[in-house]
Amino acid sequence: MVTLTRLARVLLRRKFLCRHVATYKVKPALSFSNEVQNTFKFADLSVHLASPEQLQQKPEVTALQFGKHFTDHMLKILYHESLGGWQRPEILPFENIVLHPAAKVLHYATELFEGMKAYRGVDGKIRIFRPEKNMERMNQSALRAGLPTFDGENFIKCLCQLLSIEQEWVPHSESSSLYIRPTLIGIDPSLGVAQCASALLYTILCPVGSYFSGTGEAAVSLLADPRFTRSWPGGCGDKKMGSNYAPTIHVQQEALGQGLQQVLWLYSDDHLITEVGTMNIFMFCINDSGERELITPPLDGLILPGITRASILELSREWNEFRVSERSIPMSEVVHLLSENRLLELFGAGTACVVSPVASISYRGETLHIPTERHKYPIYAKFRQTLTDIQYGRVSHPWAVPIDT
Ligand SMILES: Cc1ncc(COP(=O)(O)O)c(C=O)c1O
Repeated sequence: MVTLTRLARVLLRRKFLCRHVATYKVKPALSFSNEVQNTFKFADLSVHLASPEQLQQKPEVTALQFGKHFTDHMLKILYHESLGGWQRPEILPFENIVLHPAAKVLHYATELFEGMKAYRGVDGKIRIFRPEKNMERMNQSALRAGLPTFDGENFIKCLCQLLSIEQEWVPHSESSSLYIRPTLIGIDPSLGVAQCASALLYTILCPVGSYFSGTGEAAVSLLADPRFTRSWPGGCGDKKMGSNYAPTIHVQQEALGQGLQQVLWLYSDDHLITEVGTMNIFMFCINDSGERELITPPLDGLILPGITRASILELSREWNEFRVSERSIPMSEVVHLLSENRLLELFGAGTACVVSPVASISYRGETLHIPTERHKYPIYAKFRQTLTDIQYGRVSHPWAVPIDT
């Protein structure tokens, strides 16, 4: 009985999809030419659906672990300069990638990615959040990595098609979502540090549960150790390249070894605070003029231009309830404000958790206790509420883009 029901569901879904994808005209393969295509086109998208036996059981929302479960299909787009550049986009059953052992990604880390989410709203509609911003950032990363750029709008349309096919994978829960991982890698089968003539752009999806498991939102403890830095002027700290993340693992381990949860990244002899873990950082305080001020480090090349960061800044400027500044924050200022009880809140911001309050910083052998959670109406909670209201469709807002299902 269970099998029959499942089969019926699969068949119904396939019937729906066949109808749905039939409207997209499949064009013949690109002709061979030396002219590099500067983008692929959504109109050329081909769809090959998984067979019923390839479809997996969806995990329970309560059992979801970040990055461990993947959906049934993926989006793949190849780039070969020798074939005219970008090839036809394809949606196909989730599969392994086969690479030449000399593939540039394996030797020179020519890789970049994005992190986005699809949310199932209170009205049942699926939405993505400011996807054009991810596309802008992805193309900026591609330029710096010597990988081909592409048209973001066409990519978003292909992505929406993938999401439509995988719609049942978007959790029916307001604390969960479907994580979207667009990835671009250099696949030339040759050693040598050079611009990539072959690349693969692909996207995989994984359902993710609440960032704050179990105890609800817990404020985090940080290690601020000036011996380590994640970025420097002229470097790639403002790009979402895999090569920025591998060197942070050791430092994160160091934090865990000291019983702390995340790393507060510092830069320069002034110990400027730049980011927290894989999030942008915000400080809310009473400034020297006695005003409430929200401060976040500037986009000076050291920090990733977060979409949550940009959204928090835009909301704050719209609310016009406190001063908003993008400027450097040295650790000495954190210590000073704290000593005068003027540091109100410190929190991280990013797609994974929206906002994450900070409880303490371990710095130069001392523990600085931050009163982020001690306020009745903390500003970080207002940001979280406003952003999740938009993402889950509790309010209508142009930042939340509904997917055509
Ligand atoms: C280093 C780093 N900083 C900040 C962010 C937050 O960016 P966003 O708000 O676009 O998720 C991320 C996550 O992508 C990140 O990896």
